[in-house]
Amino acid sequence: MKIIMLGAPGAGKGTQAKKIAAKYQIPHISTGDIFRANIKNGTELGMKAKSYMDAGGLVPDEITIGMLLDRIHEADCQNGYVLDGFPRTIPQAESLTKALKEMGESIDYAVNVDVPDENIINRMSGRRACLGCGATYHIVYNAPAKEGVCDVCGQSLVLRDDDKPETVKKRLQVYHEQTQPLIDYYKKEGVLAEVDGTKDMEEVFQAIVDILGA
Ligand code: AP5
Repeated sequence: MKIIMLGAPGAGKGTQAKKIAAKYQIPHISTGDIFRANIKNGTELGMKAKSYMDAGGLVPDEITIGMLLDRIHEADCQNGYVLDGFPRTIPQAESLTKALKEMGESIDYAVNVDVPDENIINRMSGRRACLGCGATYHIVYNAPAKEGVCDVCGQSLVLRDDDKPETVKKRLQVYHEQTQPLIDYYKKEGVLAEVDGTKDMEEVFQAIVDILGA
């Protein structure tokens, strides 16, 4: 099964994508996580991506598209995957559609996790991320067992640089301008599914499972 997660920054795409990956035994591919891993390891790709990410903008398509297409050609993607954070622009979506067509494949579901802007800033300021393993928490809605420490790998949790309120506002603006049009794109492709992302995390997941099938 090939799934795309759509939604504003902080809508809960990553939270739900991890659950989907675990339930359906497919890889979770987050372009944001790939960029953050590269930044942490000081690679050339990471250095290029960092300035765009810290400013709340998008990493240019010419960097992002090739990186993602290489990833979905890897062996673990044979039975599908859940894409989290890609595509984010119409050219990214068109490149993905074209690449899949060349492989005789297509996307099965584009799941839009719908959350209004008012809820987003609150969620982001409470999010804590583990730079070690990529796990995410929320200080109120999904707190770790020990404050500031990752339940999975024991490393320290941080507020992401791009989760500061002024950067979140910029990311929301970029989302509305460049990424929201993908909802119509995938509606036209006949694969759009919508879920109410304001509900409790487990309720959101159940709504997604109802769409994807048990
Ligand atoms: P990326 O890492 O993809 O960030 P994002 O899309 O902005 O999404 P987030 O990770 O911020 O949020 P999310 O929707 O996954 O929410 P989460 O589940 O964590 O990208 C970062 C940057 O990289 C971009 O800004 C860009 O610069 C660059 N980039 C990445 N991909 C790119 C691309 N394709 N092209 C160009 N540039 C790209 O949840 C948020 C918080 O809310 C958490 O604390 C969580 O615990 C909590 N929460 C989740 N669900 C619920 C719920 N139902 N109720 C209450 N709280 C909840």
